[in-house]
Amino acid sequence: MRVMLAPMEGVIDPAMRRLLTGLGGVDRCVTEFLRVCDRLLPPRVFRRLCPELDQGGRTRAGVPVFLQLLGGQPAPLAENAARAAELGAPGIDLNFGCPAKTVNRSDGGAILLREPERVSAIVDAVRRAVPTQIPVTAKIRLGFEDRSPFLDNVRAIAEAGASELTVHARTRRDGYRPPAWWEEISRAREAAPGLPIIANGEIWSADDARRCREVTGCSDLMLGRGALCRPDLPRLVAASLRGEAGPEPLAWRDILPLLAEFLDLNLACYDRGHAANPFKQWLVYLRAYYPQAARFFEEIKRLRQPDDIARALAQASEDAYPDDRVRAA
Ligand SMILES: Cc1cc2nc3c(=O)[nH]c(=O)nc-3n(C[C@H](O)[C@H](O)[C@H](O)COP(=O)(O)O)c2cc1C
Repeated sequence: MRVMLAPMEGVIDPAMRRLLTGLGGVDRCVTEFLRVCDRLLPPRVFRRLCPELDQGGRTRAGVPVFLQLLGGQPAPLAENAARAAELGAPGIDLNFGCPAKTVNRSDGGAILLREPERVSAIVDAVRRAVPTQIPVTAKIRLGFEDRSPFLDNVRAIAEAGASELTVHARTRRDGYRPPAWWEEISRAREAAPGLPIIANGEIWSADDARRCREVTGCSDLMLGRGALCRPDLPRLVAASLRGEAGPEPLAWRDILPLLAEFLDLNLACYDRGHAANPFKQWLVYLRAYYPQAARFFEEIKRLRQPDDIARALAQASEDAYPDDRVRAA
């Protein structure tokens, strides 16, 4: 039973990976995507995307970070996958699910699901280019317009030698609209019995995780937005699936020091002018679970300077929990 943190472009970056994996419960995470067109990218591009490469391909908490590639051409994907492996990536993840129009128009992401032969050729080329001990995983949706190519893609990926497959149980047309069609994932398990499948989509609580596991039959789950709304969701899910009582869920006052840590991590990763943006973006996710996050977002949404945000955070912390002050910058 494993819990994976989903790849999320523009959201789950090195700072967020470090923060979330530090809370426990995550067995693996994935970088944002490296877009591959027709050439081999220089090592600095890989290191910028995945600074964890310089720490053995793991986050500070020791969780492996697979490097995500996106593109439509087998040969350059294979070359770049080999480079990622040489640089120390513990695994390669192939993106066949991105719904963004700009990405799909330039031959990447979910549009490839219309061509199972090309999906197969990509997985095959990447698998051959990467040393056998390094896993090559793929992530798909149920299809592009509809679900008709779903099982063909699953079989193609299995036959091409992928180590594991993550299924986000929606088509590209479904976007992110609930529900996620978990029952389709159990059909994939039947279609490719030897391929380990990770179930993904609409897991917001430990109860959802248990139901998803029952419906899909998968022992491994991947959490995306739920882990941003509730940063301790991975460890709550992990404990619940193991049948343990598990830790107390984090309260808002526990989130405030995490927000302060996240601001510091962003100041270390980005220039001061940008550091407020990921912070606000995370608050937007947190609002879905913590009403206090909505109020705090209103307070800080016009602030641009990290020092101003840090002061507001210190004040909020004092109000929430007078004995546990957040450090002001
Ligand atoms: C903002 C955002 C960015 C995403 N970026 C990626 C990505 O780079 N690669 C990928 O395979 N999936 C990506 N996804 C999809 C997620 O990994 C996941 O499949 C989806 O959010 C469903 O899981 P959830 O319901 O737990 O959020 C992204 C989703 C969102 C909302």
